[in-house]
Amino acid sequence: MCTRHGVEARSEPESALRCPLVRSEPLSPEHPEQPELLLVLAAGCGGQHEQTDAASITDAANEVIARHPDLNVLIPMAGIMRMEDWTEPGSFLQNAEATVTTNLLGPIRLISAFMEHLLAQPDATIMTVSSGLAFAPLRVTPTYNATKAAIHQLSESLRLQFAGTNVSVVELVPPSVQTKLMPGHQDDPFAMPLDEYIDEIMALLEAQPDVTEVQVERVKFLRYGEARGDQAQVIAALNRMDALAAS
Ligand SMILES: NC(=O)c1ccc[n+]([C@@H]2O[C@H](COP(=O)([O-])OP(=O)(O)OC[C@H]3O[C@@H](n4cnc5c(N)ncnc54)[C@H](OP(=O)(O)O)[C@@H]3O)[C@@H](O)[C@H]2O)c1
Repeated sequence: MCTRHGVEARSEPESALRCPLVRSEPLSPEHPEQPELLLVLAAGCGGQHEQTDAASITDAANEVIARHPDLNVLIPMAGIMRMEDWTEPGSFLQNAEATVTTNLLGPIRLISAFMEHLLAQPDATIMTVSSGLAFAPLRVTPTYNATKAAIHQLSESLRLQFAGTNVSVVELVPPSVQTKLMPGHQDDPFAMPLDEYIDEIMALLEAQPDVTEVQVERVKFLRYGEARGDQAQVIAALNRMDALAAS
């Protein structure tokens, strides 16, 4: 999800890789008014920190803060999505544990590592990354769905705790988007093209600067099944349409 953010660290010269988590440039060249300092932890920036290693996260955070003392946006977005079959005893626990460590414990540790710094800024934002699957389960990825539901609750809870402080919590709720998240996902016709997704979220952020959940139109089908009262149909349709569920 970072192609347009210009954070493809691996294509940069070695000298630029010392701290490629941070880009002192606008989020998008078409949107120069976006925050000047953007911290993108993980996506496309492999090697800067290991999301499953608490010490690596703390070290990366300390280095970033030392080099960019005005940093005021944190986007903990590293994630993995693995298929599991819980009807096959012994087959899924390793993937389940890795998913919780990467998708849930990782963001918790990242936020913790940056919290003191963010609270000291005049204005700061934490943008969490959940998923439409936080709200309707894909049969083949139980632990992934659970970690994203947990990220949603964490975001809501932190927003309550930070009310009255300078820190805002914004939750990005992507639908299925064509990225490398899973093998074949980039070509999945059910998934939203990445450029379209980025265009829509940038427009939403511009139009609604105080938004708390960034939801493109496509994700509302999953996001509001319970509120609409058609959750059973949503779950059935999701698991019928998605190529992964059919595998
Ligand atoms: N694409 C979708 O359909 C979709 C939908 C809803 C939510 N999301 C969420 O969006 C976020 C970004 O995913 P994406 O779609 O952009 O997939 P992606 O292209 O696979 O990006 C995932 C990123 O996480 C990094 N990462 C994974 N494990 C890590 C670890 N242990 N330590 C450090 N970095 C690690 C990967 O780094 P490496 O490249 O070095 O492995 C990669 O850059 C994830 O939280 C995902 O759950 C995606």
